[in-house]
Amino acid sequence: MKFFKFLFLFVFVQVTAQQGGMWIPSLLKGMNESEMKSLGMKITAEEIYSINKSSLKDAVPHFNGGCTSEVISPNGLILTNHHCGFDAIQNHSSVEHDYITDGFWAYKMEDELLNKGMVVSFVVRIEDVTSTILDGTTSLTEAEKQKKIQENIINLSKTSPKEAWQDNLIRAFYYGNQYLLFVMETYKDIRLVGAPPSSIGKFGDVTDNWVWPRHTGDFSLFRIYADKNNRPAEYSTENVPYKPKYFFPISIKGLKENDFTMVMGYPGTTQEYLPSYAVDQIVTLIDPTKIELRDVTLKVQDGFMRKDNSIKIQYAAKNATIANAWKKWMGEVKGLKRANAVAAKQKFEKEFQEKVTATGKQAEYGNLLSDFEKNYAEIKDYALAKAFWDETVIRNGEILSIGYKLYQLEQLYNSKGEQAFNDRRNVLVSGWGEFYQEFNPLVDQKVFEQLIGIYNKKYPKQFLPKSLENSNAEALANDVFTNSRLVSFEKVKELLSGDAKSVLEKLNNDKGFQIAKAMADAHFKNVAPKHDEINLKIAATQRTYMKAILELFPKSRIFPDANSTLRVTYGKIKGYKPSDAVIYEPFSYLDGVIEKYIPGDYEYDVSKKLIDLYNKKDYGPYGVNGRMPLDFIATNHTTGGNSGSPALDADGNLIGLNFDRVWEGTMSDIYYSPEICRNIMVDIRYVLFIIDKFAGAENLIKELKIIAPKNKK
Ligand code: ARG
Ligand code: GLU
Repeated sequence: MKFFKFLFLFVFVQVTAQQGGMWIPSLLKGMNESEMKSLGMKITAEEIYSINKSSLKDAVPHFNGGCTSEVISPNGLILTNHHCGFDAIQNHSSVEHDYITDGFWAYKMEDELLNKGMVVSFVVRIEDVTSTILDGTTSLTEAEKQKKIQENIINLSKTSPKEAWQDNLIRAFYYGNQYLLFVMETYKDIRLVGAPPSSIGKFGDVTDNWVWPRHTGDFSLFRIYADKNNRPAEYSTENVPYKPKYFFPISIKGLKENDFTMVMGYPGTTQEYLPSYAVDQIVTLIDPTKIELRDVTLKVQDGFMRKDNSIKIQYAAKNATIANAWKKWMGEVKGLKRANAVAAKQKFEKEFQEKVTATGKQAEYGNLLSDFEKNYAEIKDYALAKAFWDETVIRNGEILSIGYKLYQLEQLYNSKGEQAFNDRRNVLVSGWGEFYQEFNPLVDQKVFEQLIGIYNKKYPKQFLPKSLENSNAEALANDVFTNSRLVSFEKVKELLSGDAKSVLEKLNNDKGFQIAKAMADAHFKNVAPKHDEINLKIAATQRTYMKAILELFPKSRIFPDANSTLRVTYGKIKGYKPSDAVIYEPFSYLDGVIEKYIPGDYEYDVSKKLIDLYNKKDYGPYGVNGRMPLDFIATNHTTGGNSGSPALDADGNLIGLNFDRVWEGTMSDIYYSPEICRNIMVDIRYVLFIIDKFAGAENLIKELKIIAPKNKK
C-alpha cells in the first residue's frame, strides 16, 4: 500500500513536472492535453485547434513574417510587441510627429495609419503530407533525395486543394521525418492603431534586454482590414475592419505563482536534438568566437556613440541588433555550462546506444553517434571559418559587407554579362543611400582593425588569404580607410559609374574591394564547399538520429524543433533562482519603473503622465492592492518569433503578451530546463492600463471583451 502511494506520488510529480516543448496545435490530443490538464488547463485540445469550428488558433496570426500577434476584438484589432511594430512606428514618425518618442493613438478608425508591405497570416488548417512528400525518395542518394523532396513540395503546394485567396505552405518537421501542409490566409491591409511612447514600449531597452526583473510595456496595436467579403485585399479605402473567426477575451482577474499558462505563436529556430559533439562545439568554439567578434564591434561603436550624438543616432539600431544575439549567446553558453548540457547529452547518448543494441538495430542506427563524432571533428575548422565569415564580412564589418556585394557584382558580370551587371548595380546604388546615412568610416575603421586583429590570431591558418598573412591590422585598416573609395556614398557612386569593364578595373584597384575579394575568394574556395559537403552529411545523420529517437523512445516527450510554424507551449507562472543566494519573484510592478527611472536617459526616462498616474495610484480596474502589475515570467518554452505571442490562462483567456526570455535560460534553444528557462510577458492589465488611463483611448477599450473579477467593474 505504502509502495503504491509512493508510486502514485512519483508518477504525479513526474507528470506535473513535464514542461518544455513547442507542440503542433493540431496534434495536442492525448499526451499534451493530459499534461496541460494536469498543470491546470480547463479547456480542451479541440478548443485550441479545430477544423470544424472556430478555435483559439483562428486568433493567432503570424505577424509580418517574424513575430506573432493575436486578435482581441470583433473588429480585427490585433496586439503585438512594440519591437515588432517598431519599423512601422518609425516609418510614420517625423520631427512634427515623433511617434517613437511620444507614442501614437488612433482615437477614431479614420486615424489609423497604413503600413505598406505589412502582412499577417492565419493558419486555416494543418494536414500531414509526409507520405506524399517522401514518395519516390527511398533509394536515392542524399543530394538526389533533397532535390526530389523539393520537387514534391512544389508540386503538392500547387495541386493541394485550397481557395483562390489562400496559400499552401509545406514545412519539414523532425528534420524531414514529417511534413505538414499549412493552408494560410494572408491579409495585406494592416493599419497602425496604437503604440506607447518608447519610454514605455522600450523601457530599459538594450541594458534590460534578456533580463529579469523587467519593466517593459512592449506592445503595439494594429488592425486588419479586409474586402467586403472579409477576404484578404490590397490596401483600399473601401476595405473594412476584418471580422475574425475568433478573438481572445481578456482576463483581468489576476494571476499567481504556479498558475497554468500557455503561449501560442510562431517560434523560429531551435536545435533541441543536437548530439553532445555539436553542443560542445557551440559552447567551446562557435559561440565564443561569435561573441568575441561582436564584443569588439560593440565596444568600438559604443565608444563613439557615447562621445558623439550624431554617431549615436547613426548606430543605435545597428548596435541594438548586434547586441541582441550577442547577449543571448552569452547567456546560452553560461546556461549550457551551468546545466551540464554536454554531460546530459552524453548520458542520453549512452542510453540511446544501449537501446540500439537491445532492439537489434545496430545495422540501421549503430553508427550514428560515431558518424556525428567524426563529422563534427571534421567540420570544426570549417565551422570556425564560417563563423568568422558571417561575423566579419556579412555582419559587423561594414566596408567588408559592401566589398562583398561588389564581389558578387563582379561574379554576376562573369556569369551573366553586362545587362545583369547594370541591373544589379542600379539596385545596389539605390539601396546604399540609406546605408551610407548610417555609416561612419571612423567607426568602421576601428571595427575593421579589431576584427582583422582577431582574424590574424584565431582564423584557421590553412584558409587564410595570402594578403592577410602576417598583416598588421592597424596598418591595413589605415591603408584601406585612407585609400578605398568604398568609404563614402559619393565615391562609391563615382567608382561604379561607367561600363562594366572599366568599373571592374577600378574596383580591382580599390584597396577595400581587394581585401573583401581576398576574403571572399578564400571563403568560397577554401571553406564553403567542404563545409557544405560535411554539413550535408551531418544533416542526413541528424535526420536518421531523429527518426531513431522517435522510434526507440516512443513514450518520451519529443517535440519537433521550431520552424516558424504555429506552436503551443505550456507551463506555469514561476520565479527562479538565477544564481547562488538569489531568488527572482515572478511578477514585476510599476514601482520598479520608478526605481529604475533616470530623468532624460535614453533607456530609463519615464513620462510625467506615467509618474502622475503612479503617484495617484490611478490604476482603474487594472491595479491590485494599490499596485500596478507590469511583467511576469513562466516556464513556457519560447524562442525568437514568439515575440507578440498571446499568453493565455487555464480558460484560454488572454493574460499577457510574450516578448523575451530570461538571460540565464536562453540556452532553451538548445537545451530546455524548467529550473531556469523562463519566458517574459507583459501583463495584459498593464497594456489595458496604458491604453485606458495613460492614452485615454476608450474607443479601443470599448471594443474588447474584458473579464473582470466580481468585485471590479
Ligand atoms: N530580446 C528580444 C528578442 O530577441 C527583444 C529584442 C528587441 N529589443 C531590443 N532592445 N533590442 O527579440
Ligand atoms: N524577443 C524575441 C522575439 O523577437 C522573443 C524572445 C525569445 O527569443 O524568446 O521573437
